[in-house]
Amino acid sequence: MAPISVLVADPDPEFSAEVSQELSRAGIVLAAACQRLEQVRDVAARVEPQVLLLGPGFRPDELLPLAQDMLSVFEELGVVVVSARVVADFLHDALAAGVHDVLEVPVDADQLLNSITRAHDLAHGEAGVAKSLEMPASPCRVITIFSTKGGVGKTVIATNLAVALARQNARVAIIDLDLQFGDVGVMYQLEPSHTIHDAVDLGPEPTRHMVEPLLAKHSTGVHALLAPSEPELADLISPSTVTGVIEALKASHEYVVIDTPPSFNDHVLTVLDRSDAVCLVATMDIPAIKNVKLCVATMRLLGYPAEKTCLVLNRTERHVGLHPDEIEQTVGMKISASLPADRAVPLSINKGVPLVEDAPRSAVSKGIVSLAGRLSAVPGGAAVTVG
Ligand SMILES: Nc1ncnc2c1ncn2[C@@H]1O[C@H](COP(=O)(O)OP(=O)(O)OP(=O)(O)O)[C@@H](O)[C@H]1O
Ligand SMILES: [Mg+2]
Repeated sequence: MAPISVLVADPDPEFSAEVSQELSRAGIVLAAACQRLEQVRDVAARVEPQVLLLGPGFRPDELLPLAQDMLSVFEELGVVVVSARVVADFLHDALAAGVHDVLEVPVDADQLLNSITRAHDLAHGEAGVAKSLEMPASPCRVITIFSTKGGVGKTVIATNLAVALARQNARVAIIDLDLQFGDVGVMYQLEPSHTIHDAVDLGPEPTRHMVEPLLAKHSTGVHALLAPSEPELADLISPSTVTGVIEALKASHEYVVIDTPPSFNDHVLTVLDRSDAVCLVATMDIPAIKNVKLCVATMRLLGYPAEKTCLVLNRTERHVGLHPDEIEQTVGMKISASLPADRAVPLSINKGVPLVEDAPRSAVSKGIVSLAGRLSAVPGGAAVTVG
């Protein structure tokens, strides 16, 4: 693939020089550098860059009209803005204007390169993203992985299910709704330059174009809206922000997979309401089974239809004094997937490679791929209630 070419504009030539150095290390070409905004359009017409990087030396009020103008004239141009201070209004206005990413100084080299690559991909419609912002081929399905018990494997299942669905050539987004301690980013080895916390600034009804720049892109094609990097930021994210991002992501993806914290908090209730399928995860021990039974009872009380829920048994082992039949009887649901305990799981986590990629032949991978098949084939989520 030809290297990405970038036009850098900033009043300070040193900014352009530093950026140019970082770019060349990553095989990105500096098409040109200019110091005045008035020059940008003419220079761009001449050198035809793929990405325009606007530096922190310009005032936001002069920079956004230029960005908007450039985006309307140069159809496939990616635009990244680096700003001295990103306040909510500016982020909102920039994303609404079609800017692909906004970074706040200090910006580290990896962040900058990720951002430029992503802006390029978005503008060129690569990996099914940008042009994908047109409507998806089929209506979006929201799949939530939930359990009120911690450590049962929700995140392992959610992150691998998302990859398994993406391998069916579907556009898949994953939301890390474990807002305080989410580790989808760790499992995918993604450095977040943006998180769901940035969606707070987008208002209650952000468009897909506004949410798209907040997604971290995994090599498998899955787009991840990661949890905030500091737990205290979780309090600032309201359920209406969560609803807003789900609706925006539904407009440009075929699946939205949601990983959850181990409790029925307001955010979880919000997403359960919007889910087409809810996978309840249990392990083969009495506390986990008791939890899932209570969870099912609570969901029935709240009026969630049984056909929406399915039961996934994780870390299954033989001879632990509990038989899957007893679990089905106790919970009152058929088991939709049984995933054995396998050290390939922690091994893959420690490598930062999803299990379905790292050990595709393991029984856990096969179980998750088959669950993905059932969830995509059966409206509601392949659940059968037995009692
Ligand atoms: N099938 C499996 N075989 C072996 N280990 C597993 C399996 N599934 C999950 N694990 C291990 O269990 C641990 C917890 O998994 P995970 O983080 O997915 O749970 P969780 O339900 O998301 O936890 P939390 O509620 O804290 O978010 C992981 O470290 C993982 O290595
Ligand atoms: Mg988790």
